[in-house]
Amino acid sequence: MTETFGELDHPARLLMGPGPINVHPRVLRAMSVQLLGQFDPEFTGYMNETMALYRQVFQTANRQTFLVDGTSRAGIEAALVSVLAPGDDVVVVNAGRFGLLLSEIAERCDAKVTLVEAPWGTVVDPQAVEDAVKRVRPRLVACVHGDTSTTMAQPLEAIGAICRRYETLLYVDATATLGGMAVPVDVWGADIVTAGLQKCLGGPSGSAPITLSDRAAEHIFGRRHVERGLAGPGTADGNGRRIGSNYFDLAMIMDYWSDKRLNHHTEAASMLYAARECARVVLEEGLEARFARHAAAGAAVVAGAQALGLEVYGDLAHKMTNVTALVIPTGLDGDRVRARMRTEFEIEIGTAFGPLAGKVWRIGAMGVNARKSAVLTTLAALEAVLRAEGFGFAPGAGVDAAMAAYA
Ligand SMILES: Cc1ncc(COP(=O)(O)O)c(C=O)c1O
Repeated sequence: MTETFGELDHPARLLMGPGPINVHPRVLRAMSVQLLGQFDPEFTGYMNETMALYRQVFQTANRQTFLVDGTSRAGIEAALVSVLAPGDDVVVVNAGRFGLLLSEIAERCDAKVTLVEAPWGTVVDPQAVEDAVKRVRPRLVACVHGDTSTTMAQPLEAIGAICRRYETLLYVDATATLGGMAVPVDVWGADIVTAGLQKCLGGPSGSAPITLSDRAAEHIFGRRHVERGLAGPGTADGNGRRIGSNYFDLAMIMDYWSDKRLNHHTEAASMLYAARECARVVLEEGLEARFARHAAAGAAVVAGAQALGLEVYGDLAHKMTNVTALVIPTGLDGDRVRARMRTEFEIEIGTAFGPLAGKVWRIGAMGVNARKSAVLTTLAALEAVLRAEGFGFAPGAGVDAAMAAYA
């Protein structure tokens, strides 16, 4: 018997977790635009426009600024596997799940990993990074900017300066902050920075914007080994060890995005349309206005939660503006609260991982959802659910405090 199931038809849900978030309507519209061949001049024009747009979003002059097809971790893997050859030293800054992810990917590259760690809910002291860099003299320092697992934002100016002093490449995962908090790539002196669309950029996951300094690109081109079926006069290999992945080989992907248009993958055209529209929306709003909008929404979430008597998790001086973790009060079933938020209010808030599983909820106010009505609606729903679960506080306190924070 043929089974076709129903057309997708779920209720509109307000996605207030740590990502994904609701996609900007303009981005959804861009994704429905008809495909072009990937070497069609109109399409390669869109590719060049996307590069120019993301240079502005990353606040960089880097020529090598483009998209890796895949979710954010595709960008991370491409960066790490393209830089790190087996046996290379890498210092990984780790204070959360995504710092650990960097170390795990680096281990899969057979790199020698030195961890510089801090407890979850805090950030790493740059002096500890300098000590490790001085000792190990790594090829690369790898660091997460905003780690959504803990909601901490690692300051990067000092780490960038250390990497410049010791002539080490710096990789930064800005998945959760690009387009919502400042990611000034050139000011930091970061060599490779990657992101994803599904957080502050306001798109769906599936495309990873990336930017590389000339220094990083030169190192990676030194490992260039053009796929055999594409090699010919005019293609030349580097002397370095071949990159351990074909799909994530940034030397080949850079050749594909260059004027050479050397074929690699079939570009995920609909995702490129999405990424291009995300950047257009961000830049039309203006970076500073956008950062301020995310900060205002985050501050209102914090004020509302504290007025309800909830504890905001972690070192508030280093909290990401766009994601807030709230400690689940003793005696409350965190998953039940999340389920009631979804079934009774059509609102999603986030759970947590590892040592924080069952201990905090994570509330994101990002992209199109970093707005007053979304924050107030979420706090009102949380209040109602908490009251229904027997957690006492002055009714209306959270919404009032959030409105006051906005005022
Ligand atoms: C900081 C950070 N890095 C990486 C990722 C992985 O992203 P993806 O699931 O898009 O591969 C996430 C996802 O939540 C993230 O928050």
